[in-house]
Amino acid sequence: MYRNHTCGEIRMENSGSEVLLAGWVQRVRNLGGMTFIDLRDRYGLTQLVVDDQSSEQVKNVASTLGREFVVQARGIVRERSSKNPKMATGDVELHISELNVLNAAATPPFTIQDDTDGGDELRMKYRYLDLRREAVRKNLELRARMAHVVRSYLAAENFIETETPVLIGSTPEGARDFVVPSRMNPNQFYALPQSPQLFKQLLMVAGFDRYYQIVKCFRDEDLRADRQPEFTQIDCEMSYVHQEDVLNMFEGLTKNIFKEIKGIDIVDFPRMPFSEAFEKYGNDKPDLRFGMMIHELTDLVKGKEFKIFEDADYIGGICATGCGEYTRKQLDGLTDFIKKPQIGGTGLVYAKVNSDGTIKSSVDKYYSAEDLQKWAEKLDAQPGDLLLIMCGTREKTLPVISSLRLEMGRQCGLLDKEIFKPLWVVDFPLLEWNEETQRFFAMHHPFTSPKPEDIALLETDPGKVRANAYDLVINGVEIGGGSVRIFDSALQAKMFSILGFTKEAAEDQFGFLMNAFKFGAPPHAGIAFGFDRLVSMFAGLDSIRDTIAFPKNNSGRDVMNNAPSPIAQAQLDELYLKLVKPE
Ligand code: AMO
Repeated sequence: MYRNHTCGEIRMENSGSEVLLAGWVQRVRNLGGMTFIDLRDRYGLTQLVVDDQSSEQVKNVASTLGREFVVQARGIVRERSSKNPKMATGDVELHISELNVLNAAATPPFTIQDDTDGGDELRMKYRYLDLRREAVRKNLELRARMAHVVRSYLAAENFIETETPVLIGSTPEGARDFVVPSRMNPNQFYALPQSPQLFKQLLMVAGFDRYYQIVKCFRDEDLRADRQPEFTQIDCEMSYVHQEDVLNMFEGLTKNIFKEIKGIDIVDFPRMPFSEAFEKYGNDKPDLRFGMMIHELTDLVKGKEFKIFEDADYIGGICATGCGEYTRKQLDGLTDFIKKPQIGGTGLVYAKVNSDGTIKSSVDKYYSAEDLQKWAEKLDAQPGDLLLIMCGTREKTLPVISSLRLEMGRQCGLLDKEIFKPLWVVDFPLLEWNEETQRFFAMHHPFTSPKPEDIALLETDPGKVRANAYDLVINGVEIGGGSVRIFDSALQAKMFSILGFTKEAAEDQFGFLMNAFKFGAPPHAGIAFGFDRLVSMFAGLDSIRDTIAFPKNNSGRDVMNNAPSPIAQAQLDELYLKLVKPE
């Protein structure tokens, strides 16, 4: 037997009993006559003591120990003379009678403790050591608990967990595919799934009725804090359902996870049309933890000599509550913020509501005190507030105001990580016009059903057609998305033609789906949650990276096992691949 207790469970009740522990040496403190060893395993830390009364064997072994040695220790539990209330086992220590080194360890490249001295790259290179740290491991433990809750809920609701293939043909969902060459089929390639979309729809044709899978998806896209090239979805599909049924089912799942994992009862779960989200919050993922809603001021501010507003087709702003005392420097900081290339703003007009109710603005030259009062009324501003106003085209300006709103939320300390405000954003546009390619793209994916009442518009004004598509948004993060699917092959063929597919191209890529639809496809709908994002929100992390055991870095590399990397010429030959020099 290696051990009969873990390093996290010994308490005062165990005093006087003999226990056997095994773990890693976190720290050795040699205080002359006494040596203290902190022994760590997944469950916690226990202090081991070696003193004058310890045997020569124990003293000898203790003197050879280094950080991260793997050891086994037998000893008697006793009360500590100076207790450590910060440690779960801090009332006791183990007076060792036997000490064995199970494995020596090289000195780790960084300290394995919560406040480690290791930088990001180093920690990623030695990820298995990083994962020894409780701060990181606890996120993976949370992830496992959450996956368990998801499985219990969906199993109880009769969903069949089904694995779908990883080597597939390309599924067009907006991102680039990762491809895998086929040795047995020269010059042909598999793609790794961006999601199991087509397979889950085929499972509905197959009569599975309710499907789910916690599944890896692969997308070759630019990486950000909330994106990894391989990530995990909770992927689901249901038959004989309307949008409302899906929203209710997955509202139930979301509430259940919050209750089981955090003990939180989510009461409000509003639904907001995309158009409203865009007008009031400037994006399709509103953060409802705070107000500062966007108000349009176009009619109110037009008609004066201020050319910038005169030339704009949209003018809107927010009221930053309590920010009326912002200094010149702070205001300049906000202008710099919105002018960053990734935000794309051009300029910022401000108006401060003083404590006596008078208003001082950056455009006093053009607007009278009464004009400014009207602005303040429209934005519901009180003395001490700051109005921040921007203009341009509606499509470009609202997202910039949205970024500024979030920045003000951050500066005002309103982005509380322990408050959770979920909502459904519904009624997305079906199609998105792409200027560059001069054609429509599916906003969600090509299998999404238009709203029945908008189908006629497909002929006349496709850009106006709304979809039966929905996103689950929590605290400004898109956690999940899905849609009611087209299940009629004629309508699906029409969608492909609007999306610019020739008959042959549609047949080539999706023939099997359209064919399947000829054999009695039930009405169906589904959703996928981004599991990494959900876990990272529950863990209070800013990036999904530490919810993943072995993540990629920002250039898509696994720095630990050095992937991607070149392959041998023989392997290339077998795959009929020829290398070309990158430009
Ligand atoms: P969608 O593309 O919206 O829908 O993806 C669903 C959810 O997956 C998460 N997600 C990601 N998480 C981490 N890294 C990424 N690169 C990444 N990309 C997406 C997001 C997103 O909301 N097949 C459809 C679902 C359906 O219609 O049923 C789909 O994949 O949280």
